[in-house]
Amino acid sequence: MTDPRPALPLDAAFDPGEIANAVSAWRKAGLSVGFVPTMGALHAGHIALVTQALSVCDRVVASVFVNPAQFAPGEDFSAYPRTLESDAGKLAAAGCHLVYAPTGAAMYPDGFASTVSLKGPAEALESAARPHFFAGVATVVTKLLNQVRPDAAIFGEKDYQQLLVIRRLVADLDLGVKIVAGETVREPDGLALSSRNAYLSADDRQRAAKLNVILKDFADALSDGAAVEAAQAAALSQAQAVFDSVDYIEARNAQTLAALEQGPLHQPARVLAAVRVGKTRLIDNRAV
Ligand code: PAJ
Repeated sequence: MTDPRPALPLDAAFDPGEIANAVSAWRKAGLSVGFVPTMGALHAGHIALVTQALSVCDRVVASVFVNPAQFAPGEDFSAYPRTLESDAGKLAAAGCHLVYAPTGAAMYPDGFASTVSLKGPAEALESAARPHFFAGVATVVTKLLNQVRPDAAIFGEKDYQQLLVIRRLVADLDLGVKIVAGETVREPDGLALSSRNAYLSADDRQRAAKLNVILKDFADALSDGAAVEAAQAAALSQAQAVFDSVDYIEARNAQTLAALEQGPLHQPARVLAAVRVGKTRLIDNRAV
């Protein structure tokens, strides 16, 4: 078993009582608190969210918790990288003040029986392939927000549907936290950074870089006045030519993710895709 209390290069909390104490001490000192939830295996995309949080809050907490509730049986929950020591090193170097790494037992004690139920932006796209996913995300994010009680929480546009689901959740359930969006951090060839990129073989890695190119062409076609259905069909056939399978590649309303009418665009839109390369599932999106 791994030591639940490893020595880390920044302050750490390992259960809800510890995080509540740490944050309430800051509150008493009049300091504002920013929060960056993660599942660890941190890369420059996560760290950019920490830097953004530091620019708007006096103190920043990042959580590292691989949330079992958002993985289906057969997904990569067991294989998901767990690298708390190196994550903590990156957080400390970025100026993050505290890492919150609760145990599974602290988050989901025996008898745990409640989840958040979602509609609206949680429907379709990711939910078609992963029907359990957003309920698991929304439940853990609700718990984390209630445990940390930050002024602001930062979520990446990389997971655009997740960002909209969280915005809706916070508004609907009066969670009283400001949700801030962080821009997607990319490799030089445009591949969005992701903890799952570590699974890609050299050939898969080359193909993976095409996803953002196809999404850019799709977004450009729409902003140049192409009909939604024609631009979407072209993007789908380009994606099918490169990837092993395509879960979706679609244009949607940028605020609600509602389906768009046919013909040229007349509302703010976002193009979103999920594809599989080898064993890896990649998601990405872009503004139109
Ligand atoms: P995780 O995949 O670790 O991502 C944590 C945060 O980092 C999310 O807000 C995600 O959108 C953001 N992120 C990931 N890659 C990024 C990139 N290339 N550029 C900018 N931001 C990026 O998303 C989750 O964890 C979980 O679902 C979580 C919200 C923590 C709930 O368990």
